[in-house]
Amino acid sequence: MIITVVGARPNFIKMAPIIQTLRQRNIAQVFVHTGQHYDEKMSTIFFEQLNMPRPDVYLAVGSGTHAQQTAKIMTAFEEVCLTHHPQLVVVAGDVNSTLACALTAAKLNIPVAHVESGLRSFDRAMPEEINRILTDHIADLLFTTEESGDQHLNEEGIARDKVHFVGNTMIDSLVTHLNNAVALEPWGKFKVAPHEYGLVTFHRPSNVDETDNVKVLVEALGKISQRQPLIFPIHPRTISKHPELWSALTNVQLVEPLGYLEFLGLMAKAAVVVTDSGGIQEETTALGVRCVTVRNNTERPVTISLGTNQLVELQADKIFEAAFAPAQHQPVIPPLWDGKAAARVVDVIEQWLANG
Ligand code: UD1
Ligand code: UDP
Repeated sequence: MIITVVGARPNFIKMAPIIQTLRQRNIAQVFVHTGQHYDEKMSTIFFEQLNMPRPDVYLAVGSGTHAQQTAKIMTAFEEVCLTHHPQLVVVAGDVNSTLACALTAAKLNIPVAHVESGLRSFDRAMPEEINRILTDHIADLLFTTEESGDQHLNEEGIARDKVHFVGNTMIDSLVTHLNNAVALEPWGKFKVAPHEYGLVTFHRPSNVDETDNVKVLVEALGKISQRQPLIFPIHPRTISKHPELWSALTNVQLVEPLGYLEFLGLMAKAAVVVTDSGGIQEETTALGVRCVTVRNNTERPVTISLGTNQLVELQADKIFEAAFAPAQHQPVIPPLWDGKAAARVVDVIEQWLANG
């Protein structure tokens, strides 16, 4: 029996195709939601829209400092492991739930599979970078999304036979749901026309926690919105830190986080996406939609070398210019971002289980 783990918004999108493939192949699983994200719009809606089963176990850990949240997840997840004795724990991505559950399993000598291994921003101020490095170094099966992941893991001395380049399960979800998402015409609700609006998300602590940084973003978005309508589904972390600064954006449609289908439909027909998200850099590349990422680095370099992504530092003029700059090259879909990554993940898991 396998335990599959989700905790935060990007996990749902990355794990849904794996959970479904395991079910289709009758591989027994206990599906655990840590409750790191818990709001209707950050959690429940994804279960409905991605056709995910209800979690078998909900740990209800909620928010807290890094240590509090990680410790709460570990304590609760240890009990789950001791009750179910899984042969493997499957985690995805780089959030606190990923590391907490991987570490708990590893300490109980339970093998760990990490989906989206090997990505590196080389910026240890990012909590995600710590989560990625540590999870990779205690994992037994490492599934990579792009070739840079294989290179990093190799350079860090991780045995090659543990590493499997399978592609991107987040893009599996996109391929499955894109037609339905576009058919919803979610732009209609915002009174904008396809290809005539920008879509915005920000939630990285480096951008949204400090007042001065938020002011730069507000200035940049204010300028962009004078030339092009902007829709900004705002992450709870972002609005909770500086509500008064964000609310000053009069020309921008600030709305609550959107469901996956609405967001995907909006992304597919956006003129540009301005973001600091990890996953959205990949989704825009798969969609061929220009992405301006307001960060100094990315752990997803293939989105720049092959895709539509461009990094821009936190300066209002530069963000404004980038939002209207022409594409830098003809984008190409990265290798194995073909909608079949989850099948490849489960092939490897089945083989691994068969080998005992
Ligand atoms: C987390 C991940 C980040 C990921 C992001 C995806 C970590 C360290 N960070 O960041 O890598 O990119 O999720 O969205 O794991 N909150 C709510 N409702 C919710 C969830 C959160 O209001 O359902 C608010 C709370 O005020 C909370 C804050 O958001 O304190 C931050 O939540 P948390 O899960 O700690 O980190 P995120 O910023 O969401
Ligand atoms: N997303 C969504 N609704 C929103 C914003 C994002 O469904 O309002 C989806 C997006 O399409 C992608 C995922 O959430 O699949 C990315 O999550 P997020 O940006 O929160 O996390 P990150 O990828 O940065 O870790």
